[in-house]
Amino acid sequence: MGHNIAFIGFGGVGQGLANILLHQKDKLIQQEDLDVKVVAISDMMKGSLYHPDGLDVNLVLETLHSTGSLNDYPDRRGLVKGLDSVETIRQTNADTIMEVTFTDVKTGQPAIHHCETAFQAGKNVITTNKGPIALKYRELKKLAEQNGVFFGFEGTVMSGTPALRMPLSSLAGNEITEITGILNGTSNYILTKMEEGLAFYDALQEAKDNGFAEADPTNDIEGFDVRYKAVILTNYLMDVPIDVQDVPCEGISHLTPEDMKEAQKQGERWKLLATIKKENGHVTASVEPKRIPVSDPLASVSSATNAILYQCDLAGPITLTGAGAGITETGYSLLIDLIHIHRKKKTVNAY
Ligand code: HSE
Repeated sequence: MGHNIAFIGFGGVGQGLANILLHQKDKLIQQEDLDVKVVAISDMMKGSLYHPDGLDVNLVLETLHSTGSLNDYPDRRGLVKGLDSVETIRQTNADTIMEVTFTDVKTGQPAIHHCETAFQAGKNVITTNKGPIALKYRELKKLAEQNGVFFGFEGTVMSGTPALRMPLSSLAGNEITEITGILNGTSNYILTKMEEGLAFYDALQEAKDNGFAEADPTNDIEGFDVRYKAVILTNYLMDVPIDVQDVPCEGISHLTPEDMKEAQKQGERWKLLATIKKENGHVTASVEPKRIPVSDPLASVSSATNAILYQCDLAGPITLTGAGAGITETGYSLLIDLIHIHRKKKTVNAY
């Protein structure tokens, strides 16, 4: 079954999915009966392409690597260049919009507008963009439902590690009463490196060099990135509305290698933790660095790895550990949602 997609934004994450699609095309057709066609790409800096019969993804990636601009993609009959993001969403034959523009978590724009435009045009949206989900989840979910389309955002928390879908599908029937998570790779990397004696800013530089720190790492080290993820988890998994301002937040920038040593002497480790608790239908969430005993399941999670512990009323504590960033891992998170939409469509068509 064919499925047309359009990328709005085409940075590392979008290219990560494009690469996966290029190399896994046959497997997706064989295993899922899913034949994905990239029909459009619109990126503010790199340019824009649309062909209703699909673009040559290999050629797109080669063109970008050699010239940096989509405008250099060879012309052919039916090819349209220069559509902006909204025109791409409205005027192309994409079934699903991959919204992977730059995340502005203060306003959520232009990503929120892209999601709204897509839903109004009857198109699914899959995004790794935290802004729309942290700031406008309920309104966007309603709009998607009203228009009978799907809204996927698995990659907003822990990239391709299924922190959102796993508890709802595989832990079905439990009430999750508490969630504790290490949800930012950069800060966990810095804390781990400081335990080895590295100074804060040297460790941060390494995190930047490794590509998991944000362009402006303030969000990573001051806990803001974790705060947005805590809001997403609370709204989605606990189904209780909470706003970013409701979550007190403290980062790790005041911690030093000496603090790490001091904790180690007491058999403890510093971790930047998101904690979400549900009591009598009321939820509280917070983000702060805490000293936890080395025996705690989260204490051994080191470097850029993320982890999340769900306290379930029936299954007890369940911990999920994995990548929280990375081009392939985050690109893969888009694929999880795409396969999910496709399976749902197939089930609906079967009845
Ligand atoms: N900068 C983030 C991190 C990337 O370090 O975890 C994923 O949100």
